[in-house]
Amino acid sequence: MSEKITLSVIKADIGGFVGHSSVHPELLQEAEKTLGQRGQDLLEDFKVTCVGDDINLVMTHRKGIDNEQIHKLAWETFLSCTRIARRLKLYGAGQDLLSDAFSGNIKGMGPGVAEMEFEERPSEPIIVFMADKTEPGAWNLPLYKMFADPFNTIGLVIDPKMHEGFKFEVLDLIENKKVTFSCPEELYDLLVFLGAANRYAVKAVYRKNGEIAAVSSTQRMNLMAGRYVGKDDPVLIVRCQNGLPAVGEALEPFSNPHLVAGWMRGSHFGPIIPVSQKESTPTRFDGPPRVIALGFQLAEGKLIGPQDLFADVAYDRARQKALEIADYLRQLGPFEPHRLPLDEMEYTSMPQVMEKLKDRFN
Ligand code: 13P
Ligand code: 13P
Ligand code: MG
Ligand code: MG
Repeated sequence: MSEKITLSVIKADIGGFVGHSSVHPELLQEAEKTLGQRGQDLLEDFKVTCVGDDINLVMTHRKGIDNEQIHKLAWETFLSCTRIARRLKLYGAGQDLLSDAFSGNIKGMGPGVAEMEFEERPSEPIIVFMADKTEPGAWNLPLYKMFADPFNTIGLVIDPKMHEGFKFEVLDLIENKKVTFSCPEELYDLLVFLGAANRYAVKAVYRKNGEIAAVSSTQRMNLMAGRYVGKDDPVLIVRCQNGLPAVGEALEPFSNPHLVAGWMRGSHFGPIIPVSQKESTPTRFDGPPRVIALGFQLAEGKLIGPQDLFADVAYDRARQKALEIADYLRQLGPFEPHRLPLDEMEYTSMPQVMEKLKDRFN
């Protein structure tokens, strides 16, 4: 038992309503009920929310990261939701629960996990970003802007507590290796990797003194089940203010919707639209990809909030721009660069078509 607080965000798609567009209210109620009952002695506080067809469990506790009891609680919560999803015949019921038996840690079993342990500051503003219809590399560009770009984050220039910069921990999603870059000194090295968002993803950002600033649900997911199991629909936790990016600096990268991989059948590039939680129901061509930002103040481990930060009218233009980009890209139909390159698509008919035509190639 530690005096520090741990914030764990664990998410899974356990059945879409309708198709892949949202979570059925009965599943959210079930998750509330299960966490409320079984989490009573474990959790300081929790919130159940969703983005698109993904259920997100936001939990605070004092058991540290990778804690078996906490992971088991999340696993059992998803399992009991899956029973309802099966009864309602929701789409892809149980889709993200890749294993039948819990084995100590939920990582590698399908659900996405972002956790950080820290000492709660006198005021502890936190943003939980949650995305649907995309992959963990989607956070690369915004994290770079938040923690390394002075044109986004003026604090890097004028706040003496931020001026020394931050450290980025980057995960190679294929080889499952990590490397840490100290910025601004190693900015250009960092960008060689962050620009290849399908392979390298930011796992965490630290202050130079080692204090945790941000953590994502990045994991070696795509190849996890021994095959491609889809875009992970990642989450990201960012601590804000007082030596860390201001809330507005953490939100600012999403004012210019960048292109991310995911969207229809996990096989297309599209703009990521910042939306309110209510508007996070991707329908057009199963998208475009969405991101929501829920703000919390922590108070002795209690989650005060959420505040739905992208509900602000100041993001209307970003939404408009994203919709225009979506119109443009959709007109390309099955052509790259709207459709992903062959080796990144979630599924493909190429082998069957090739087999059928093999005698006609000469
Ligand atoms: P306040 O002066 O309102 O605390 O704001 C400081 C700040 O961080 C604004 O980004
Ligand atoms: P999800 O990853 O959100 O389930 O979406 C899958 C899909 O194929 C959308 O077209
Ligand atoms: Mg789904
Ligand atoms: Mg999803």
